[in-house]
Amino acid sequence: MLRGVTATRYITPLREGGSLPGLVEGDDRGIYVMKFSGAGQGRKTLVAEVVCGELARRLGFRVPPLVTVDLDPVLGLGEPDQQVQELLKASGGLNLGMDFLSGAIGYDPLAFGIGPEEAGRIVWFDALVGNVDRSWRNPNLLMWHGDLWLIDHGATMIWHHNWPGAETSAARPYDASDHALLPFAPDVASAAAALAPLVTEELLAEVTAEIPDAWLAGEPGFDTPDALRRAYARPLLARAAVVHERINGIEEAR
Ligand SMILES: Nc1ncnc2c1ncn2[C@@H]1O[C@H](COP(=O)(O)OP(=O)(O)O)[C@@H](O)[C@H]1O
Ligand SMILES: [Mg+2]
Repeated sequence: MLRGVTATRYITPLREGGSLPGLVEGDDRGIYVMKFSGAGQGRKTLVAEVVCGELARRLGFRVPPLVTVDLDPVLGLGEPDQQVQELLKASGGLNLGMDFLSGAIGYDPLAFGIGPEEAGRIVWFDALVGNVDRSWRNPNLLMWHGDLWLIDHGATMIWHHNWPGAETSAARPYDASDHALLPFAPDVASAAAALAPLVTEELLAEVTAEIPDAWLAGEPGFDTPDALRRAYARPLLARAAVVHERINGIEEAR
């Protein structure tokens, strides 16, 4: 399970995001970007953040540390903004927190170029998890202390919205034609050779063990949280071996 903190203060909403994430202080004095369990897509978005964030980290990508944030909805009572107040009220219990990278700026492909190797690794990873949220319009990449950091993996693994059709859905190709890093001639073949062998059953078990039970319990068709954890691991294991051959849009961009 992820490390847990308790929210002591709601600081401010982060207006850039579509899901209205907010800045929250934890009882460890850390400042976290919090994604609320009561927001639109609910807990599946949070599960996706954990699975993809923790997998990416183990594959060597820079991802800010993730924690669970226990929220007492009482914190929302003093919020003047109606929308924020509703969100806090609906999000009692465990939410997702990500270390706030103070001073980070949104990555701009026109301002900062990267090499085919790093671009290839990120495109390959996004293909693995089916990330539709790394477009040039909205790259969800941050520059911090001169390095590229990956954030926002909520819109991935679309197959987890329909488990009976998950195998079919996860066999589909990845459309990279909108990807923010396409201009850098991503070398996905090298990335696949280096990263695919790392995506093992053991690694995925370790990654899915980080998901809190509370976000897995009660999923129709699954008796236990662990059964659902295995369902998260399966398509990723299958995709890791083949997904580099199923990425569309890279050749066309050349
Ligand atoms: N860990 C972080 N450190 C600094 N800024 C962040 C962090 N996470 C998110 N942000 C900022 O907040 C915005 C919204 O967060 P994001 O995770 O992309 O949420 P959404 O799902 O709403 O798009 C990001 O585009 C970025 O500007
Ligand atoms: Mg985003």
